[in-house]
Amino acid sequence: MAALQAIPGVEVAAVADAVRERAQAFATAHGIARAFGDGAELLSCGVDAVTICTPHAAHEGAVLAAARHGVHVLCEKPVALDVAQAHRMIAAADAAGIRFGVIFQRRFWPAAARIRAALDDGRLGAPICGGVLARLNRDADYYAEPWRGSRDAEGGGVLITQVIHHIDLLQWYMGPARRVTGHCATLAHPGIDVEDTAGALIEFGSGAVATVQAGTTFRPGLGIQVWVADARGRTAGVAELPEGVGFTDVWTVTGEEEFTGRYRGADLPLAAIHDHLAPFHARQIEDFVAAVREDRDPAVTGRDAVRSLEIVEAVYASARTGATVLLPAPG
Ligand SMILES: NC(=O)c1ccc[n+]([C@@H]2O[C@H](COP(=O)([O-])OP(=O)(O)OC[C@H]3O[C@@H](n4cnc5c(N)ncnc54)[C@H](O)[C@@H]3O)[C@@H](O)[C@H]2O)c1
Repeated sequence: MAALQAIPGVEVAAVADAVRERAQAFATAHGIARAFGDGAELLSCGVDAVTICTPHAAHEGAVLAAARHGVHVLCEKPVALDVAQAHRMIAAADAAGIRFGVIFQRRFWPAAARIRAALDDGRLGAPICGGVLARLNRDADYYAEPWRGSRDAEGGGVLITQVIHHIDLLQWYMGPARRVTGHCATLAHPGIDVEDTAGALIEFGSGAVATVQAGTTFRPGLGIQVWVADARGRTAGVAELPEGVGFTDVWTVTGEEEFTGRYRGADLPLAAIHDHLAPFHARQIEDFVAAVREDRDPAVTGRDAVRSLEIVEAVYASARTGATVLLPAPG
């Protein structure tokens, strides 16, 4: 919030929460003039843009309401519970002529942006293979929040809520996915009806192949690695260890060899994970504000955000049916 309030010319005018007292407490803590118990009231108070930080199930309604009011909208990940909702949100934003961005702040880590830059300037060729290895720790307290661990409210588990960030990075590097085969299971968290363990094989339109292994069952968590390699064997990766702290991992581009493994063997509290990520949230919010001012697309649009959701949804469909899922060609 401090970073948002520090952007020149930006005034955080109001906050809303379905629990009005929470909105009021937040407003008081951050010097925000108005607090509402309903998003519709906030949208009617004359704001230019809103950022949506509600649980996933409320994203669609909030973005459609912002579009009806002609208010630009930056929405938390995952963009929606499913791809159909995301397409309705994109269509509403297009029809209203508003800017619609989705938070994937890990793209703003220097270590993650560095891989995209190496692909853009040819130091890395088109990836032929890649992967995500996500070994996370989420305990019973985490899943005690009623909307977490519920398929209806969360749409899924570790893939849609945690690892969608890293699937977003993977497809940012590797291009559109074409076929997905997946398996999901709930193995160590009794009482949740979403996956705490998942594995997937992704084939990309380029012919490249990647694997995803993800779980929230590790004690302690062992962080996350995302990596890609080109046809000449050059490999680049970004790792997050402890969770929330991103750094350059394997990097075998000639002249830039580097390895900076920093295993600490301990989990950070969720609040500390978020503190580490906050500066990169701030950079994405700054980009969104600039996009509105410059009348251009934000760094991550609703259309960009739907790609990782398509992959996650395809893993779920494959896990249900046992079949490989063919994704639509990018429109
Ligand atoms: N980008 C990231 O790294 C990151 C990190 C954490 C959470 N998130 C995302 O942020 C969203 C919220 O997650 P959280 O962990 O902060 O949830 P939370 O449960 O801690 O907080 C959600 C808040 O939204 C309020 N709320 C619920 N429905 C509402 C509605 N219809 N209108 C207004 N307020 C409503 C709740 O009262 C609550 O105060 C999720 O979509 C999550 O994926 C993203």
